[in-house]
Amino acid sequence: MVQLTLPKNSKIQKGKTWNSPDVKGAWREVRVYRWDPDTGENPRVDTYWIDTEQCGPMVLDALIKIKNEIDPSLTFRRSCREGICGSCSMNIDGMNDLACLKGLDEITGPINIYPLPHLKVVKDLVGDLTNFYAQHRSIEPWLKTDTATPPKEWKQSRDDREKLDGLYECILCACCSTACPSYWWNSDRYLGPAALLQAYRWVIDSRDEATGDRLDNLEDPFRIYRCHTIMNCAKTCPKGLNPAKAIAELKKLMVQRRV
Ligand code: SF4
Ligand code: SF4
Ligand code: FES
Repeated sequence: MVQLTLPKNSKIQKGKTWNSPDVKGAWREVRVYRWDPDTGENPRVDTYWIDTEQCGPMVLDALIKIKNEIDPSLTFRRSCREGICGSCSMNIDGMNDLACLKGLDEITGPINIYPLPHLKVVKDLVGDLTNFYAQHRSIEPWLKTDTATPPKEWKQSRDDREKLDGLYECILCACCSTACPSYWWNSDRYLGPAALLQAYRWVIDSRDEATGDRLDNLEDPFRIYRCHTIMNCAKTCPKGLNPAKAIAELKKLMVQRRV
């Protein structure tokens, strides 16, 4: 699958080459998108050479090495470095992925790194996720109940708990939504695969008592129905989840309650 790798800022120029492989080692060329709104300059792609014998095995290790040893101005998000926080999502070698889970040895040739596609860029590899988070909030991702809170806990059978598998693991990295063509063109009105996967997670939670309201909230020509089952979301999810399936299940429930 080929994804659009360029962010919204146009006119990307070839930038600086920071260092070169002049000593013995296992050198890799890393090309990184750079843009700093404070300079007023066009975006560019800088080239860094790193000795992978002196670096950890993942793309995130390479970025940290560049920031620590070559160019401290390079800006990117990261926290857990083990695929849990979702903050190091970016476009690597043409695919959206988590930099901490992507091995340098999985990529042949130069390593091309861009921000997630079709987001406004805040700086370098940091995309603006304000709309993405607002959409997540709009599906009200918390347990909603009318009955009195039980003294100990909301109980759930083993079978009902298993229905949440493949959904609760989402880390909100936005790899899926920013790989979805429908989301690229309608992100102001279409919720996108990440928020819809979360919507389904709460709709099928046996403990939740707001199912009708949650489905009502999706009844709109854009909020869910812009999914055309292109499946980019499932192909790109670094946690192996399938938002397209969750969206299809939601659509089925919405049809069923009309008949
Ligand atoms: S479904 Fe997968 S790709 Fe999408 S936000 Fe969740 S973890 Fe990331
Ligand atoms: S299946 Fe739907 S949500 Fe997933 S990429 Fe395609 S249009 Fe987007
Ligand atoms: S740093 Fe947390 S998911 Fe990569």
